[in-house]
This record gives sequence, C-alpha cells and structure tokens, in this order.
Amino acid sequence: MKISKTNFKNNSAKYSIFIGLGAIKLLRKQIGLVCPETKKVALIFDKRIPNKLKTKVKQQVSNYEVHTYQFFVDEKLKSFKNVNQLNEELIKKNFNRNDLIVAIGGGVIGDFAGFVASILKRGVNFINLPSTFLSQVDASIGGKTGINSSKGKNLIGTFYQPKLVISELSFLKSLPKREMICGFAEILKHAFISDKKFFNWIEKNTKKIIEQRNNLIINSAILKSCKIKISFVTRDEREKGDRAILNFGHTFAHGIEAASNFSKKVNHGEAVLIGMLLATKLSFHKKICSISTLNKIINFYKINNLPNSLKKYSLNKKLNRIVEHMKSDKKNKDSRINLILLKNIGKTTRPNAVKLSPKKMNLLIKKII
Ligand SMILES: NC(=O)c1ccc[n+]([C@@H]2O[C@H](COP(=O)([O-])OP(=O)(O)OC[C@H]3O[C@@H](n4cnc5c(N)ncnc54)[C@H](O)[C@@H]3O)[C@@H](O)[C@H]2O)c1
Repeated sequence: MKISKTNFKNNSAKYSIFIGLGAIKLLRKQIGLVCPETKKVALIFDKRIPNKLKTKVKQQVSNYEVHTYQFFVDEKLKSFKNVNQLNEELIKKNFNRNDLIVAIGGGVIGDFAGFVASILKRGVNFINLPSTFLSQVDASIGGKTGINSSKGKNLIGTFYQPKLVISELSFLKSLPKREMICGFAEILKHAFISDKKFFNWIEKNTKKIIEQRNNLIINSAILKSCKIKISFVTRDEREKGDRAILNFGHTFAHGIEAASNFSKKVNHGEAVLIGMLLATKLSFHKKICSISTLNKIINFYKINNLPNSLKKYSLNKKLNRIVEHMKSDKKNKDSRINLILLKNIGKTTRPNAVKLSPKKMNLLIKKII
C-alpha cells in the first residue's frame, strides 16, 4: 500500500505527516533526518497498544539509548503530578534538547508527552505516532499539548509542534468500534466546516470506514482530514481567529461531556456528533441554514446509525447543566456562549459572530433537542 504524505508548515515549524499501512518503517530514517543530533529516545506508550506493534516501534529506534515508559490511559494521566514525575525521570537520565520524546498512543498520550517535551529543558524534540483514529485525523496535528485542571479539561498547556507524525494504520486494528466513531466524528466535522465534496465522499464511504475498516478509504479520510486541519492551523496557530471554526459542535459537546461528569457512558466522539447536530438545528432555528441542509444531515445520521439524541444518554433531563458548562467553555470571551454555526455543508459562521446569553441558550436548547 502506498504511503501518503502531507506537510505542515507555518512561520515557526515545518514537519511531515506520513499515513499508511507499514508507515512505521519510515521512523528510523526520518528520525535521522529530523533529529540528527539525538542520542537518547524516550518511548511513551499507551499500555493498550498490542505488544507486536510496540516491538515494531522499538526496532526502529534500536540504534539509540532507549528508555521506555508505559501508561494506562485515562484523562487522569493528564495531570501535573504525572508530568512532573516523567520530567524528573528524564532529567535523571540526562535528556537534553537534542534528545527525543516519542508518543505512541491516542490523544491523551500525545497531549501528555507533548506537554512534557515542550517544557523539559524548555523544549526537547517530539515525535507523535498516533494510535487512535481520533488522534490520526485530529489530535496529532496542530501542536496543542496539555493537561487537565480540577476546573476543566485541557486548561493548562502549550503550543508545541512535533518534528514528525506517522499514522500507522495497523494501530487501528485493535481499536474498539466506539473509538472509530470518535475519529469519524472529527472527519465529519472537517467536511461540515469546509468541504462539501468531502462530505459527499464520506456519504458514500461511511460503512467502509466504520464497519469494514477499509485501509485504502481510511487512508484517504485521514489524509484529507489532516489537510483540512492543517489549513486552519497554519492560518491561525494560536486560535485568535479561524482556528476557532474547528470548534464546530464542540461547545455543545463540552457541555454534554461535563454534564455527564465525563463518564464513559457518553464519550467525546458521541458528544461531538450530538453537538454538531444540535448546532445545525440551532443554525436552522436562527435561519442561518436551510431546512434541506438540516434534513440532509439528520438523514445521514439516521442511515448510519450515528448518535443523534440526548435522550439515549438520559441527558435530556440535564439541559440546565449542559448550558451551565457551555457557559464555562474556555473559548468564551465574555459571559455569553460563543458558537460556530452552520450556513450550509462546507461553510460556517465566522468566529465571534454568534454569541448567546446563557438565559437565551436555556430557552433555545429546549426547542432544538
Ligand atoms: N491536542 C489536540 O489538538 C487534541 C485534539 C482533540 C483531542 N485531544 C485530546 O485527546 C484526548 C482523546 O484522545 P483519543 O480519542 O485518542 O483517546 P485516548 O488517548 O483516551 O484513547 C482512547 C482509548 O483507546 C485506547 N487505545 C489507544 N490506542 C489503541 C490501540 N491502538 N488499540 C487499542 N486501544 C487503543 C486507549 O488506551 C484508550 O482507552 C483527550 O484528552 C482530548 O482532550 C487533543
């Protein structure tokens, strides 16, 4: 299978993203190219990755002094305590700026290891080998790293671009279907916010991605998604403008996840799918999108059996709490809720164009669920 490649380039960073079955075999050569001075490598693994794949990664760095760390992944990993522990370990091992931290895991490992890489000795080399669908289509691109605070998710962090991203498709084989849907939600978001043609392509290929896990189709979906995300991030790395469009559906999703106490009953991708549908319904309600756009999306969800209602998760009784959490979304610049809404498939409203008071949102959410 051909390995696809795309590049990230802005004023401060430039790196390649390789995608494909067997792409991991490029790691050794690529490290030589992008981190020529590296002597020590820290491999930060998600424990759930199958041993066979861990061995493949280790083989690629056998010519370096290698230190391996493995973590059981959940959001609690993204804490200062764990960051501190790993920093101290690597300082003890004399890691310096020429050395390298490699994340091999989903968004949690990527955010955590990337954050450590960004602060250790004011920045050591970082490479990301995303192992979940979501991290391959979204989290590994764009340079956001971070940990959680007691007051909310991802409230502490840095912008720190990796030197290289390799999306090895065989990582996805062991991934549960629910995690595939999480990645799918972000692919769909990328189509909704910027590319109608891509949405038409997704319409034809959804089953091949989620049910059949067709590698050729998955490869194309990841590549296209990365390109869309890159186009937003290179325009606006620090989220002062257009990057906020990537939050389409996510303000609702944040409210949904927080109102359910981040329980596993509703995961991030499911919350994003419901969030995008609510945002589209609100867009119709506010006469920003047409009924045919709304119906097309409702129909697409139905045909593909995608999560589409709060009821299934008993969240229709927690609307006030959802809005309460939407109010505290870190993207809000004042007491109003800042939303990206849909004009039609492929086009959204501008950042900061739609802001609703929590009181108004409380009224509207009852009408759109
Ligand atoms: N930095 C960014 O731009 C960005 C963007 C989106 C999300 N995020 C962050 O990413 C995190 C979510 O990432 P995620 O969805 O990848 O989840 P995750 O990292 O929590 O992984 C999901 C689950 O899959 C397991 N897993 C990982 N790889 C596996 C594999 N190959 N086979 C079997 N199981 C595997 C993990 O152990 C975990 O149970 C959140 O913390 C979110 O805040 C960051």
